[in-house]
Amino acid sequence: VKKMTDCQEANSPMELYEKLTAQGDKVRALKTDKAEKAEVVAAVQMLLKLKVDYKQTTGQDYKAGCPPSETAAAVTDNGPAADGDGGEDNVDPWNVSTTNAKGVDYDKLIVRFGSSKVEKELVDRIEKVSGQKPHRFLRRGIFFSHRDMHQVLDAYEKHKSFYLYTGRGPSSEAMHVGHLIPFIFTKWLQDVFDIPLVIQLTDDEKYLWKDLISHTPVSASPDFYRNVVKIQKHVTFNQVKGIFGFTDSDCIGKISFPAIQAAPSFSSSFPQIFGGRKDIQCLIPCAIDQDPYFRMTRDVAPRIGYPKPALLHSTFFPALQGAQTKMSASDANTSIFLTDTPKQIKSKINKHAFSGGKDTVEEHRKYGGNADVDVSFMYLTFFLEDDEQLEKIRQDYTSGALLTGELKKILTETLQPMIAQHQERRKQVTDETVKQFMTPRPLNFNL
Ligand code: TYM
Repeated sequence: VKKMTDCQEANSPMELYEKLTAQGDKVRALKTDKAEKAEVVAAVQMLLKLKVDYKQTTGQDYKAGCPPSETAAAVTDNGPAADGDGGEDNVDPWNVSTTNAKGVDYDKLIVRFGSSKVEKELVDRIEKVSGQKPHRFLRRGIFFSHRDMHQVLDAYEKHKSFYLYTGRGPSSEAMHVGHLIPFIFTKWLQDVFDIPLVIQLTDDEKYLWKDLISHTPVSASPDFYRNVVKIQKHVTFNQVKGIFGFTDSDCIGKISFPAIQAAPSFSSSFPQIFGGRKDIQCLIPCAIDQDPYFRMTRDVAPRIGYPKPALLHSTFFPALQGAQTKMSASDANTSIFLTDTPKQIKSKINKHAFSGGKDTVEEHRKYGGNADVDVSFMYLTFFLEDDEQLEKIRQDYTSGALLTGELKKILTETLQPMIAQHQERRKQVTDETVKQFMTPRPLNFNL
């Protein structure tokens, strides 16, 4: 029997939410155990009844992992990762989906996650402080959201350096083009600010979520592990349940994993680079799906005496089939891989890239295409450097002067050399290079 404290009412939104979560776990457990049909039906009916009560009490649809957003908590650092008002957009580290062909509503996401918009003023400031023309990802709002970027720039102007941290969960043999987005941008930041970078490869995460084999030698970094344990000690199960939607049936590896993704955000994890200093601020470029990990990190940071990491979030590079989902390695059909041949790239674009064009050439010439939902056009916004050329393509496509086939050809000819050059560079990488990069070591960096 659950003991209730004075401040809880039997039917408060939170109480209902907890009952619903428990009932959901029960239904899942009954199904897993292949329980009697009648018992499963009764449990499901109870679940549905609770959902109705919840909707009546809170005015919101129940969503696993998203506590009721009646308070400001919904828009603070610990806000829920999925949509609370109608359930159209779903964004968390494991799923990205929306019913909107134009893609996720990113402005809404900023409000829900409690981050800040990358305004023109911030882009201008980055230009001023770095002395470089802003990267096209900044000029075009692809890195659209941030946390504490002004603070990083204030400190940098006072000659206080920072470092970069990003990562990859190796879930497939090859990376896809979407994975390039944070890496291309991180490299640009590394060059223009001349600062160190750490990249975390979470094969342990992919082992826990996808059964891929892990071989992480954490023992090589005792200071890193010390921070992992410190974080684990200061975050409760309730907190990660609220942020990630874990249930009682999730293995304890998943529940404790966020501490591993959080640890590189603190400079004391890398004494080889930072000489034991714990006050160097970290800036994390990533797509916004990773934000739940860093909401938790930012929440725990002051409690363990470390600065909160700053973040720069990107939008998603869409799946070939349309912006309703992101390009994802686990679904090969949605993706162009960095190992694809020029022929494969051409054929994937021609066959699968969702078109905003009209059905016939006549109609297209007459009514024009819709660049807002056209995947080839969206891909060009990520990779075509020339702003004027991009704008001309948009206008010509919208007016009908440019046909879908022609647009796809421009995209193919943009991606093919970019990927071929990547493959050339990759050929130069030896086992020795990999070993060097995987070894904790001092970097050429003066504090
Ligand atoms: P992973 O391997 O899923 O993704 C690696 C990085 O790529 C971003 N990303 C995308 N960006 C744009 N469009 C897409 N379609 C797309 N798909 C993936 C992700 O946001 C991420 O930045 N848990 C992490 C690994 C990790 C990490 C980190 C990532 C560990 N520490 C620190 C960022 C920052 C993961 O599985 O990423």
